[in-house]
Amino acid sequence: MPVTAVGQSVSRKDGIGKATGAAKYADDLTWPGMLHGRTIRSTVPRGRIRAVLFDFDTTGFTIVDHADVPGSNMVDLIERDQPLLAVHEVRHVGEPILLLAHEDKEVLHAARVLVEYEELPPLLDPEGSEQTFKTITIDKGDAAAMAGADLVVEGTYQTGHQEHIYIEPNGVIAVPEDGGITVHGSIQCPFYALKALKALLGPDIPARVVQTETGGGFGGKEEFPSIPAGHAALLAHKSGRPVKIIYDRVEDMVSTTKRHPSIVRHRTGVKRDGTLVAMEVEVILDGGAYVTLSPVVLSRGCIHAAGPYRCDNIRIEGRAVFTNTPPNGAFRGFGAPQTEFAVEVQMERVAEALGMDPVEFRRKNALRAGDTTATGQVLREDCSALAVLDEAVRRTEFARKRTEYEGTDRAIGLSLFYHGAGFTGSGERYLKSRARLEVTPTGVRIATGSTEIGQGTRTMHAQIVADALGVPYESVEVAQPDTKHVVDSGPTVASRTCMVVGKILEECAVEMRSELGKLSPAEYFAKHGAMTVERMYEPPDWIRWDDATYRGDAYATYGWGCDVVELEVDPDTFDVRLLEVTAVQEFGRPIHPALARGQIEGGTVQGLGYALLERVVMRNGAMANAQLTNYTIPTTLDVPEIDVVMLENPYPGGPFGAKGLGELPMDGPAPAVVNALRHLGHDIRAIPATPEMIAASPVAART
Ligand code: MOS
Repeated sequence: MPVTAVGQSVSRKDGIGKATGAAKYADDLTWPGMLHGRTIRSTVPRGRIRAVLFDFDTTGFTIVDHADVPGSNMVDLIERDQPLLAVHEVRHVGEPILLLAHEDKEVLHAARVLVEYEELPPLLDPEGSEQTFKTITIDKGDAAAMAGADLVVEGTYQTGHQEHIYIEPNGVIAVPEDGGITVHGSIQCPFYALKALKALLGPDIPARVVQTETGGGFGGKEEFPSIPAGHAALLAHKSGRPVKIIYDRVEDMVSTTKRHPSIVRHRTGVKRDGTLVAMEVEVILDGGAYVTLSPVVLSRGCIHAAGPYRCDNIRIEGRAVFTNTPPNGAFRGFGAPQTEFAVEVQMERVAEALGMDPVEFRRKNALRAGDTTATGQVLREDCSALAVLDEAVRRTEFARKRTEYEGTDRAIGLSLFYHGAGFTGSGERYLKSRARLEVTPTGVRIATGSTEIGQGTRTMHAQIVADALGVPYESVEVAQPDTKHVVDSGPTVASRTCMVVGKILEECAVEMRSELGKLSPAEYFAKHGAMTVERMYEPPDWIRWDDATYRGDAYATYGWGCDVVELEVDPDTFDVRLLEVTAVQEFGRPIHPALARGQIEGGTVQGLGYALLERVVMRNGAMANAQLTNYTIPTTLDVPEIDVVMLENPYPGGPFGAKGLGELPMDGPAPAVVNALRHLGHDIRAIPATPEMIAASPVAART
């Protein structure tokens, strides 16, 4: 089969629209008679609501509280514990209590609502929390083997919240339509929002969700938009008019989900020769005030907590706990950036304790084909830990620079990491994702629930279909995700959109090709009319997973990465200047090299921000720095050009050999930065490593 689009950096399907401004984001859309909506939120981290008082003329306002909910007032997610609108109590700052809508935005925002609380003492320290959302234990071999180690190294590592900073804040518009409500919005997973709307609106009010052009998600628009979508729907239902809710940046930062802060404790036993004997890992995630996706974030975090290393005896114990802070949720990497930070700094310290070169130590212990992971999964030929490590070390002349920078303000450090692609364990089997391909008068149309959120979904899916069907890339169009017109392809998350949904599309295209015979899609349409092919995802048949014991094949495949960071620390200000960043990653095969490179560059920069800059300051349970002036993310001035290397190792279960890529690049930068700082003698165990922390970190306390 001649391959023409896959492997080429063809022009993006969404490129012209975004470059010219023709693309319509939620706030670009308006409807006749549209109102603007606003959310009144709690200002205390914990309390009982005593009274709600309106200190304004309510004429012309639509006002909604929990009593206006036609169906269930609970966000329909893993648990149903989070109210759409508070009833008697609030558990975190920013919790929605009341909704207002008015046709004049200024009048709307001038309205004063006073909420009186009986304040209660908040629980803010996750380690002090006895309310656990989820616990996980992973056991491999016998943790008692620790007793046979020559050396045991212990360490505690911490990571902070991280805010997504998608360029477009959350925004939705709910429109009354055909006796029901249609929500248009900046939404990563339209079918998640649909499920939540159905529960909220009840059986008598049909719901529909349409994804508008979306300015970034990173997990932040995975589960969260069910809340603004629900709020707008309630206002639209009560007023009978379209209602738009657009968060400004401050509201978005104060009240939406963030990456879970973590505390991870390691005990690692090794032989003198560097062999890993036993690993004990304790993972604590701060879930915030409601469950959201914490159980699955904890799951992925725990599964990756021992890093890409061979060790016969591993015990990992994790828990996600309640605090009176805004709920944390999905964020690129989903728990793995937290636990892989911890294990990679721990491995660096173990190598130091042994007096062993960090590369040699990793080379000795890195997972190889035939080895088993912490869950007992036997790795296949798609394991590339050694390949990425060797390439990164060779390319950066790591050993030479390590010696050369000795005694200067410069240092070089690395991290080795991996990331499972797709839903965990049997997840893809339960999900039963579908995709559909339709013959049109001019070519074919892809109809899936997968969303374009900047990462290149439309382009990459169209490339796969074009080549599998043997038609020009230009003749493939991609339908807007509208729950009325597309099938549920599962959520656009978990590095699954290329590998899993792309695979279903490839199979649809192959089937359609045989139906078409010698005709092109357009010729077929002219002769026979429309044709539709729809298929469901079948995970590889060898996957065995036990949710009760956490044993088995956690993921169909993994991506592998090694990041090398060279940096310089200003001896007076402790400012870190990044000199060179190298990202060597293996994710099967890139469908679109420029987009794949963009994912790696973007994820790496997001990881560098996580490492050095992005600090959420919580005061009495509220984000105190909810502005881009004091919650700073890296700009082009903060990051050198990244040397991206895409190693190929085609994965037979993915379309054209592709694995998932979206999250992998997020896992490596933070430990690589901190390991470089270690080499300068700064013993950093928590991120972000701000200049204040670097200044305060003991110098030359190496173990
Ligand atoms: Mo997600 S954190 O978009 O899987």
